[in-house]
This record gives sequence, structure tokens and C-alpha cells, in this order.
Amino acid sequence: MKETIILKVNPENPAPSKIKMAAKIIQKGGLVAFPTETVYGLGADSLNSTAILTLFEAKKRPLDNPPIVHVASQTEVYRLTQDVSKKAEVLMKAFWPGPLTLVFKRSNIIPTVTVAGLETVAIRMPKHKVALALIKASACPIAAPSANLAGKPSPTNANHVYEDLNGRIDAIIDGGPTNIGVESTVVDLSIDPPMLLRPGGVTFEALKQVINEVKLHPFVEAKKELPIENIRSPGMKHRHYAPKAELILIEGNLSSVTNKIQELAEEYTHKGLRVGILATDETETSYKADVVRSLGSRSILAVAAQNLFRLLREIDAENVDVIIVESVSSEGIGLAIMNRLRKASGYHIIKTE
Ligand code: TXA
Ligand code: MG
Repeated sequence: MKETIILKVNPENPAPSKIKMAAKIIQKGGLVAFPTETVYGLGADSLNSTAILTLFEAKKRPLDNPPIVHVASQTEVYRLTQDVSKKAEVLMKAFWPGPLTLVFKRSNIIPTVTVAGLETVAIRMPKHKVALALIKASACPIAAPSANLAGKPSPTNANHVYEDLNGRIDAIIDGGPTNIGVESTVVDLSIDPPMLLRPGGVTFEALKQVINEVKLHPFVEAKKELPIENIRSPGMKHRHYAPKAELILIEGNLSSVTNKIQELAEEYTHKGLRVGILATDETETSYKADVVRSLGSRSILAVAAQNLFRLLREIDAENVDVIIVESVSSEGIGLAIMNRLRKASGYHIIKTE
């Protein structure tokens, strides 16, 4: 076991001495978890194959699922890719720094392990001051998947990272809770028209306002597992965001959803199971179960996104056998929330009407 050091920083104005200490670890091939505006990332030098192998091992991540490469300036992209299209430039200008990851045809300076043998690379410039300071001080593009053990909900604070990775990584920069709470939106620009592979912090609606032609990969809204040949992003085929307990997602109009959830909660309780319900402010008090938690108001989905992964971890820590979850609207950031919930349920979805 390694000793994992914790570097506490002010998220708005991180102490240069601490950033320097973390950057030295990255430069020596070590692993540092750091906050971004979406979720915490687990960083390693993207140009150092040995460091990247250590990164996969620490997360217990399958080697076929490549991390996102994080840069601190747009000019870095030209070095890491073969071809930066007009559309790419428009998107970078509109959304960087920010929660948008772009997939490009890659250049040869990136080691094969960093991209899991693919001909493409996923790149993003985060907005968080700590992330940007770390990338600059390290003077290399930083590969960073979310800083959780593979398959667990993504970490939205430093404690989540500690729970999963203490003893497995060199350092955690603690910059407080993250702001967006779900990961970045991934858009594939290696094909035309561009395709949204993972919904996230930048909404589909916002993307369409900037480039009018962008398709949604069928996986984004899939309500069951898609055949493997339809997959464009390696992350699509791995189970994700899953708590230990079985998660069941109930979709449909609100009153039939709440009725169904209460009916299921009673049925499971009767069978002797411990039941958790993930509700919203509007419905929270109408349920009876062992654990009932609220994502926030149905009308402020940005807050629900912020709370989502933390609440999945917290309900799980209550040792429930089953978590029944209310669906929300798929508009705006709701598309990312519903995508994560469907994946977390392993597509155990009940449709009510
Ligand atoms: O917000 C985020 O994106 C966070 C923070 C830390 O930046 N990072 C993150 O990384 O969520 P990760 O590794 O957990 O998810 C990256 C996703 C995976 O689904 C992966 O399969 C996909 O991006 N991806 C990576 N490289 C790709 C490529 N060349 N083509 C298609 N998809 C790719
Ligand atoms: Mg992840």
C-alpha cells in the first residue's frame, strides 16, 4: 500500500506550493486525484506509458477503456491530433474551458496505452482553477479518468476519492465539492456529422445552437443494453456508476411513478429486504421506506445532477438491498442524469403509464 497524501487547497486560489508538489508527482510518473468542475479526475502524465499503466491498475479499469486527456490551452490540441476541423474550432471556442470532451484522430506522440489502441483521442480543457493550475505546472497533458474504482459512482468530493483509492494513489488535491456533478459531454469529431457519445455538463440543446448538425448516439438514451457492434465509445460497454445495492429505475408520468415506487417498496419490505428510495423534493414525503433521500427539486435539475453520485454513495452506505429511483425529465442536464441512472440500473427499468 502507498501512502496517499492529502493536499487541501482553496478551489479559487490554490496555493502554488501544493500545486507544485502535486505536479512533481505527475512528472515522476505518479498518480494525483484533483477536482474539475464536473467530477474528480485521477491524473497521470498522458505521454508516459508506465504512468498510464499504473493509472489503469489503481482504478482497476479495463485496459480497453481509454481516459480523457486534459489540456490547459487550445494550442496543445494541435500537437495531440492530426486534424482540427472548423467545427472543432467552433466548439472549442464556445465551450472551452468547460465540460466538453472532443474526440479527434490522434497524432503519434500519444502512447498506444493512453488511447487503448484506438486511432482517436478524447481531449478536454477543464474550467476548474485547480485542474488548470495542475496541468500547467506539470507541463504535460494529463490523462484523467474519473477518480473512482471502476464501476463505482464518480467522485464529487475528495472523501469519495479517499474511500475508493486511499493507499492506491500518491495524492489527492482536496478542492471541495465539484460544481456540475456529472461528467463532461463527449462528442466524436472523428466522424461527420459529429456524434454525441456521452451526455454531460454541456447540454445537447446548447451544442445544437452552436453546430446545427450533431447526432445523438443511440446509446445515450438506450433503455436496454445495445448490441456490441453499435458501440463507438469503449465506456459504453462497461457497467458504470453502480452502487452495491440493486438499483431499479421507474419511468413514466409522475403520479404513476410514485404509486409504483410505493407499491414496490412495500412488496420488498414485506419480503424482508431493506429498501432505499431516491426521490425528489416534490415527492419525498409521500414515500415510506428504510431510507428516503431527495435529489432536489424536479424543476432545478442542475442541483439534482450535483447531488446524484453523492446520494447513490450515501444510500448505499446505509446497507440497503435495493434502491428504487424516480426518473426525471430528459431535457437539458436531465439527459445526463437519466443516462447515468439507466446505466447504474444495469437497464433494470420499469415503465409505468
Ligand atoms: O468530466 C469528465 O469527463 C471527467 C473529468 C475527470 O474530466 N472524466 C471522465 O473520464 O469522466 P472517464 O475516463 O471516466 O470517462 C471517459 C469516457 C469513457 O466513456 C471513454 O470510453 C470515453 O470517454 N473515451 C475516451 N477516449 C475515447 C475515444 N478515443 N473515443 C471514444 N470515446 C472515448
Ligand atoms: Mg468514469
